[in-house]
Amino acid sequence: MTTLTIDGRQVEALRGSTVLEAARENHIEIPTLCYHEALEPYAGCRLCVVELVTPKGSQLVASCVYAAEDGLVVKTNSGIVQESRRMTVELLLAAAPKAKVIQDLAAEMGIEEPRVSLGDSDCILCGLCVRACKEIVGANAISLVNRGFAKEVKPPFEIGSNACTGCTTCVLVCPTGAIKLEDVLDSRSVHRWESDFEARECKICGDHYLAPEFAPDLKELLGEEEV
Ligand code: SF4
Ligand code: FES
Repeated sequence: MTTLTIDGRQVEALRGSTVLEAARENHIEIPTLCYHEALEPYAGCRLCVVELVTPKGSQLVASCVYAAEDGLVVKTNSGIVQESRRMTVELLLAAAPKAKVIQDLAAEMGIEEPRVSLGDSDCILCGLCVRACKEIVGANAISLVNRGFAKEVKPPFEIGSNACTGCTTCVLVCPTGAIKLEDVLDSRSVHRWESDFEARECKICGDHYLAPEFAPDLKELLGEEEV
């Protein structure tokens, strides 16, 4: 086990834990947006910053990727942590004002209007959908493309990817509701990725299954017929 101090409390955590995991194991709450316990951490949102207190002074680190080590002294809600989180939320609100989770965080912090406007998205570029598609589903159907203000999540060539199976894992992990799923009768559309599926009836068991409309390989394999 590793022993460290969080918010004045000496706590223990499993070796190899991050500061975030150590805090959560000990029921100390740290807010996160781009973290999911089933996925590799990405440290993209900076909401989880904490203050490390060292003899050389203080340092802000992303708790979701910082290793919990023996003797570490951590503050999760000090003045500079609050200031940093407030700045992070204001910037997220400036870039993604349609994201309800950000609107709520901003309201909690008393931020009414961001001082600048950086876009009008509902996506906060947390990368959870991309990592879930890669690490949980193994499909790699979407990725983060471009840099800076042009950064966004897209399927390859901005057209529906054959790799997308319409499993909706991305929809489930998205913290902002930016990925819209539409199930209408026997069809499913995942709009953000331009993925469309029609449900076909299996001639053997009678169950319905989703077949990507844009998947030529699959159609060829099926001979355009239901199986
Ligand atoms: S679509 Fe959702 S999960 Fe994907 S990066 Fe944007 S906010 Fe995150
Ligand atoms: S949760 Fe740690 S940087 Fe987003």
